[in-house]
Amino acid sequence: MPQSERPKVFLTRPLPAPVMDRLEAETDLTLQPHDRPATREEILEGVRGQDALLCLLTDPIDARVLDAGSPTLRIVANYAVGFNNIDIQAAAQRGIAVTNTPGVLTESSADLAFALLLAAARRIPEADRFTRTGRWDGWGPLQFLGRDLHGSTLGLIGMGRIGRAVARRAAGFGLHLRYWNRTRLQPEQEQSLSLTYTERDLLLADSDFVSLHVAYHPQTHHLLGARELSLMKPGSILINTSRGSVVDEPALVAALQEGRLGGAGLDVYEHEPDIHPELLRLDQVVILPHIASATRRTRTRMGMMALENILAAHRGDPLPNPVR
Ligand code: DGY
Repeated sequence: MPQSERPKVFLTRPLPAPVMDRLEAETDLTLQPHDRPATREEILEGVRGQDALLCLLTDPIDARVLDAGSPTLRIVANYAVGFNNIDIQAAAQRGIAVTNTPGVLTESSADLAFALLLAAARRIPEADRFTRTGRWDGWGPLQFLGRDLHGSTLGLIGMGRIGRAVARRAAGFGLHLRYWNRTRLQPEQEQSLSLTYTERDLLLADSDFVSLHVAYHPQTHHLLGARELSLMKPGSILINTSRGSVVDEPALVAALQEGRLGGAGLDVYEHEPDIHPELLRLDQVVILPHIASATRRTRTRMGMMALENILAAHRGDPLPNPVR
């Protein structure tokens, strides 16, 4: 495609190679070349005169950034399914479209939620640390006693694509499933996934494991606060792969320190990349650096999807993945 017909794109951080190849071939690309989050200044400067901004969940895109891209900026393509980093209203007011990457990361994210569940229930990172530091003196009947998944109850909060993908995995592990969602599923969907709809407080009280799969917005801020955490079954385990601010982090620390909760598997934090220092000290907490979608294939698909949205916006076609 001749250079003049390609959309001018600012990308805030390098993406997997196949995506970079296509971006270079099909767009007029400006790249923040370092493999670290772009600074505020780099974003404000980089977006100037561009048709499209391809940004990450770590990039706050507010009115000031959108104004810096005006009047040329037509689309903000977020390289994530979550889009709480973008001021959607400010974009709509300026006639700038916003897109995300739903669907392609569902299975990878559900895999990781499950990996966290197994890791926390069976104390895998803790046992690994113990073994590799030479403290193992042989098999012991009381070593690293964990929790069985089979026969236990998993409570899922949020029943979108990822929640449903976790439910499908849970069936194979012999877990009983409860769920809470803003909107209840159709009876045939509940039946096909062996899901029992349960009010949120009751779900917290009845579940051995609770896994969070809600989008972050003002209504889900601290959805699990001190009160909700206090309702959780003693010794139960919390898994969070959604967004950190869905949980009140200091309240979670207190529940873990006091032994009310048995453990946690966390991929997300309230103030990323900062993690509450007390969480890092707790052996019963599995700590990951926000990697739910981090497989080669999924991260490539996410990039291709963002590019398709940018190209559609440039052609004036309907956008495949507009955020509403
Ligand atoms: C997303 O896409 O919102 C995920 O958090 C990325 O891992």
